Amino acid sequence: MTTESKLNSPEMEEFYNDLAGMNMDALWHHNFPSQTAAEKSAPYQPCRWLWKDIEPMIWRAGDLVQPGPESHRRVIQLKNPGLAPMPGATHTLVLALQLVYPGEVAPSHRHTPTAIRFMLKGKTVTMVDGEPITMNPGDLVLTPNWTWHGHTNETNEPAIWIDNLDVPIVGALKAGIHEDFPEGLDPSTKMPDESFRRFGSGHLRPIKSKKAELISPLHSYPWEQTHQALHELASVEADAFDDVALEYTNPTTGGHVLPTLACQIQMIRPGVHTKAHKHSSSAVFHVYKGSGHVIVDGVKIAWKEGDFFSLPPWCNHEFVNDSNSEELVLYSSTDQPVFEALGLWHELAYEKNGGHQEVVATYEERYG
Ligand SMILES: [Fe+2]
Ligand SMILES: [Fe+2]
Repeated sequence: MTTESKLNSPEMEEFYNDLAGMNMDALWHHNFPSQTAAEKSAPYQPCRWLWKDIEPMIWRAGDLVQPGPESHRRVIQLKNPGLAPMPGATHTLVLALQLVYPGEVAPSHRHTPTAIRFMLKGKTVTMVDGEPITMNPGDLVLTPNWTWHGHTNETNEPAIWIDNLDVPIVGALKAGIHEDFPEGLDPSTKMPDESFRRFGSGHLRPIKSKKAELISPLHSYPWEQTHQALHELASVEADAFDDVALEYTNPTTGGHVLPTLACQIQMIRPGVHTKAHKHSSSAVFHVYKGSGHVIVDGVKIAWKEGDFFSLPPWCNHEFVNDSNSEELVLYSSTDQPVFEALGLWHELAYEKNGGHQEVVATYEERYG
């Protein structure tokens, strides 16, 4: 052994080459610069999709394909160009819109990626493991992983809803499995909206249901209940970063609805401008009501009702309701449960300028 450094010696180069030839490597050969949470920055861009651009494409898809054996689902995916060629809106979340016309059936299948639906227009029924669940605008419906699920529209109006899935997470784990039901919808074996009849009150549960379940046994969260809860909360409490914000919960634990996805609804009250923070989780947002903007790492991204937005991890963000009279309601899905389960969730408040970022560009100026 010697105290003289050989790091840059010819012998060391030869050593590295010999290691590489045997599929080995030396850890000291690589730099591991220290990086604090404050120094972490967004690994890819945020992305916004306008409803005025999305809606015509949904109707065009309606003219071109039908759900069924040929095209599976009539779904338009919203892809973040910062992740190309990956299909996600963030590195963990798929964001898409699905259209089912009156009389159509999107046949049942099941897969290991988990999905949630947030209903936008019309009315439909989603079958979840034999439970017919009615979906009206503003309702959240869960299709947990490996549950049979299909959709049918028995009304006279087209039905459009948001699909969020954890496909990139399941893909990274090489755990993707998909199976089609032999034909049409899986049969109804339960009462319509049975899980809501059991657990839908939110604060009362059947006395025999004492077990904490990893996946919420409640599969539907109707809008009327959600909207009322938002307004009740607004009368007593608001969060510095999200204003009046609620998470949809698993009634057996009070925690996230699903192991990989959490779902939230938030109201930015008229005139409110939240403080900025950043975190290790990413999220996708839909402007369900109202208009306003979000400032992401100094870029102002304006929103109108119906628009969508994806938030990468580690970017500072703050919300603004531009109206002094109308509420701004945002639905969001986030990968936060995965980060919490792995002990990787970090959150950091923006400390400068009283918690508000300086706007340096608009979305159009920065991203075209
Ligand atoms: Fe599916
Ligand atoms: Fe946040």
